Amino acid sequence: MRTFSPKLLTTATLLMIILWSCTQERLGNPFDIQLERRLVRLSPTGSSEYFMLPDEQDYDAIPQGKSNPLSYEKVELGKLLFFETGIAREAIDDSGSGTYSCATCHVPTAGFMPGRVQGIADGGAGFGLNGEGRDISDQYVEGTLDVQGARALSLLNVAYVTNTTWNGKFGANHANIGTEAVWGIDDESTEVNRLGLDGLETQNMEGLDLHRMIIDEYVLDTLGYRPYYNAAFAEIPVEERYGKITTSFAISAYIRTLLPNQAPFQKWLQGDKEAMTDAEKRGANIFYDKAGCYRCHKGPSMSSVEFHALGVNDLYQTGEAYQTDENDKRNLGRGGFTNLATDMYKFKVPTIYNMGDSPFYFHGSSKRSLSDLVEYFDLGVKENPNVPDSQISPFFHPLQLTQKEKDDLLAFLENGLRDPNLMRYVPERVLSGNCFPNNDAQSQTELGCN
Ligand code: HEC
Ligand code: HEC
Repeated sequence: MRTFSPKLLTTATLLMIILWSCTQERLGNPFDIQLERRLVRLSPTGSSEYFMLPDEQDYDAIPQGKSNPLSYEKVELGKLLFFETGIAREAIDDSGSGTYSCATCHVPTAGFMPGRVQGIADGGAGFGLNGEGRDISDQYVEGTLDVQGARALSLLNVAYVTNTTWNGKFGANHANIGTEAVWGIDDESTEVNRLGLDGLETQNMEGLDLHRMIIDEYVLDTLGYRPYYNAAFAEIPVEERYGKITTSFAISAYIRTLLPNQAPFQKWLQGDKEAMTDAEKRGANIFYDKAGCYRCHKGPSMSSVEFHALGVNDLYQTGEAYQTDENDKRNLGRGGFTNLATDMYKFKVPTIYNMGDSPFYFHGSSKRSLSDLVEYFDLGVKENPNVPDSQISPFFHPLQLTQKEKDDLLAFLENGLRDPNLMRYVPERVLSGNCFPNNDAQSQTELGCN
């Protein structure tokens, strides 16, 4: 019989200890293991990588419409136009001309949301620190403002949004197949769906008109955008190269790259297990398990083009919004577009990255902190008496979370899902040299432009 020398035994024991500690290191702490297992189970591909957002420069990996493939030149043009106050050339009053941009209502430092209860473009003045200081300009009266009866959606992760707005009315494809009969009937704006384009390309054509923006000789030659269009759309005949469609295509390409892929949760998915705190990891486990949030907030974007009623209040019910009331069709959600009884009061599931950057939640800005929002989901009771119980989603019900679970979920929402570096999506300057996102006198001062 062979015997093992004491030396060999010691070496073997040492080796085992090293192996064991390596395995521990690789698996990380129990919260990592639990989250990894849960994500693998929920993923249709059997891998947690399914939840990873692409790199914003990896154009092949970013979802995009067939008609408008991403290119560097389009993204660069769109990145300028989105912040360019110089295209706001059809303001109702001369005083509003050249004073606002898309980013007035989609403020990068406010998670591409307005930073206040409602976005005000033409007819507004001021910015404050983060959009909250904007209000009606002295030169305007209510009724003439460019405002909508819902809070502006975040533009993060819109690459995943096939049908845009809270009721999903824009875009000829995906969720809107079968809705053709209502296009352009009650709501003229949806006529543009007949071009057959995807959601972003469709909506942004309409958005240029709605927000009183144009591309003309002044924009092309005085401000100098013509060479940018030539570079981005060389294959488009010159007669069609500088119009609404190409402008929408460039802006759509740019906003498709707005991916919060540096959020701690994303870094964790990329392999950096230290990126999230234990509380954030526990919060993620609650999100993907006990609280059932994943049932609606799906995939890498944590959104979906599905419509659900949570029974939240509408914007007019805040008493703080302009030009909206109980008869606003937006209050009906998807049903206001399709006219179908089954769709009434149901709203699109929005992305939930960088929510902490702007404290106005849901389509009617009815919640003003993420902890109030978590309480609303935990309680599972509708706040809007106008929404019949029969419409409320069966996934919205009391969750019975403990205080610690609510705190952890909050940590995940507030920090785990916050990309701290969204300024990489903002240009240094726009061709007009104007102040942005806003360019009215008060905003200029508040933004430090003069
Ligand atoms: C006056 C404020 C305002 C301005 C200016 C504005 N938006 Fe919006 N945006 C909104 C509001 C409000 C919504 C939601 C509308 C709804 O659901 O009915 C929205 C929604 C969107 C969406 C849909 C997102 C989704 O997930 O469905 C996109 C895309 C968008 N805006 C892009 C733009 C672009 C591009 C511009 C500039 C051309 C722009 N917006 C200018 C207020 C504004
Ligand atoms: C039944 C589907 C569903 C479930 C389950 C669900 N959500 Fe949502 N969520 C939505 C919809 C739809 C909205 C928009 C509702 C509205 O404004 O009318 C929303 C809005 C939000 C918002 C605000 C986004 C914004 O732009 O204002 C946050 C944050 C959020 N959800 C987080 C959560 C968390 C956390 C959970 C789990 C506790 C959860 N959701 C569970 C469907 C769902």
